[in-house]
Amino acid sequence: MTAAGRFSMAQMAHTAKMAPAPPQLDLSRLTPFVDSLPIPEVAKPAGTRPNASRRRVPFYRIPIQEFFSKIHRDVPPTRFWGYGNSVPGPTIEARSGEEISIEWPNRLPAKHFLPIDHNLMGAEKGVPESRTVVHVHGARVPPASDGWPEAWYGPGKSATYHYPNEQEAALLWYHDHAMGINRLNICAGMAGLYVIRDSFEDPLNLPKGDYEIPLVLMDRMIQSDGQLYYPVAPTPEAPWVPEYDGDAVLINGKLLPYLAVQPRKYRFRILNASNARFYFLSLENGQPFQQIGSDQGLLSAPAVMNRLAIAPGERADVVVDFAAHRGQNILLKNLTATLMQFRVAAERVADPSTLPPTLRPVRRFTEADATVTRRLTLMEVDSLMGDPVTHLLDGKRWHDPVSEKPVLGTTEIWELLNVTDDAHPIHLHLVRFQILDRRAIEPSDWIYNSKVVYRGDAFPPEPNEAGWKDTVRATPGASTRIIVKFEGYTGRYVWHCHILEHEDNEMMRPYEVIAPAR
Ligand code: C2O
Ligand code: CU
Ligand code: CU
Repeated sequence: MTAAGRFSMAQMAHTAKMAPAPPQLDLSRLTPFVDSLPIPEVAKPAGTRPNASRRRVPFYRIPIQEFFSKIHRDVPPTRFWGYGNSVPGPTIEARSGEEISIEWPNRLPAKHFLPIDHNLMGAEKGVPESRTVVHVHGARVPPASDGWPEAWYGPGKSATYHYPNEQEAALLWYHDHAMGINRLNICAGMAGLYVIRDSFEDPLNLPKGDYEIPLVLMDRMIQSDGQLYYPVAPTPEAPWVPEYDGDAVLINGKLLPYLAVQPRKYRFRILNASNARFYFLSLENGQPFQQIGSDQGLLSAPAVMNRLAIAPGERADVVVDFAAHRGQNILLKNLTATLMQFRVAAERVADPSTLPPTLRPVRRFTEADATVTRRLTLMEVDSLMGDPVTHLLDGKRWHDPVSEKPVLGTTEIWELLNVTDDAHPIHLHLVRFQILDRRAIEPSDWIYNSKVVYRGDAFPPEPNEAGWKDTVRATPGASTRIIVKFEGYTGRYVWHCHILEHEDNEMMRPYEVIAPAR
């Protein structure tokens, strides 16, 4: 590994270094907008069960299994591994402060249908190929219910997790977190939504019911026979590729769907559930999104966004008013690519919903709130050829001893120093945090001399990033500082890059919340 190679051309390497793929679906020959956008069904409890303190709480059972689903009218059914019978899986509707339990039985076939790399941590030969463990992203839960990556279980086994929902209204999501194959399991379809609502949000009178629509974005490579394709490196003994992206973007499991809407306000709850793709969303007619929330709930006020950037793992809660566009068809775009179509009805309708000028107060942390500052690097390790072989957090691997041990109830600043050429969405389990600032650095000073040299001023987050977050874009060649209060529970959690290929290959670390000394 040469020092200079560490931040060489990761982007080019990953497109160049793949074994030849079977014929892929030709999107340009597919008729767009023939399928209406599906809305995942809301999960129904199977009854009640005693929780840890013997109180009966609603109990759900959501099996993880194989099924086939139509991604487009003219494409043969696609094999998925997912939750229940759909991708995304059934939506969990929860209320703040009301605990639920979910059993997640693993009913998968024994053999994985996507290519496992046995060199990756936790993916050694001999462990069940179709292992799984579920994590609710953004949930404040005890460690035993968080989906620790090594707490996976194989087919025929099951786990029941407890979700206290002691947190504010937000759009969370559940997905697989099994060590070393998480990227394959999520690619196979293991993701679903988990909505928390609360009594603060209810009276805001935002669009709801039929007018609140989730949009779950997942890009895929689809073979011409309609099946998922996951590429492999040219070396069969080490098939891992540094990033997965496909040009087929599924929205709620459909390719190029349409949604019939009324000329009124809608609330769209957008999740980027893709392995590695960042989206830059816009409406073709130039109309902005009014962003009202981010990962962990409402912003203090709506932010007007002409183009909405959303990284893997992030959520954006937006309101769009179609009232002035009766009878029009409006495309949702990702840069120049078309994702879906909104068909606005011609007849005028009443719109009793509101878009309040202020939403939920967010008390901004300041540096003075923090008692500990940690500087944590994001770096790429390359082969002699300049291809990324792994990415590390703080120069450490998964199995290195736990080095981040925040004390419960204290606040810390984590300075994420990204010395790579790529943006990495960094996610911490358990907590919500705020972005303090970003500031350009010179990566070579760090790489050659372990010195941090800032270039120019620090700049605060944009208004749409100034609320509560659980995933942050650490921009390349920059320091990104987040401020985190460690609340909830003591115990071991993880933090990682949400580019799943990175996460599966060492860009994930444990951290431990410890009890205060007494
Ligand atoms: Cu979206 Cu560790 O998770
Ligand atoms: Cu998470
Ligand atoms: Cu990454």
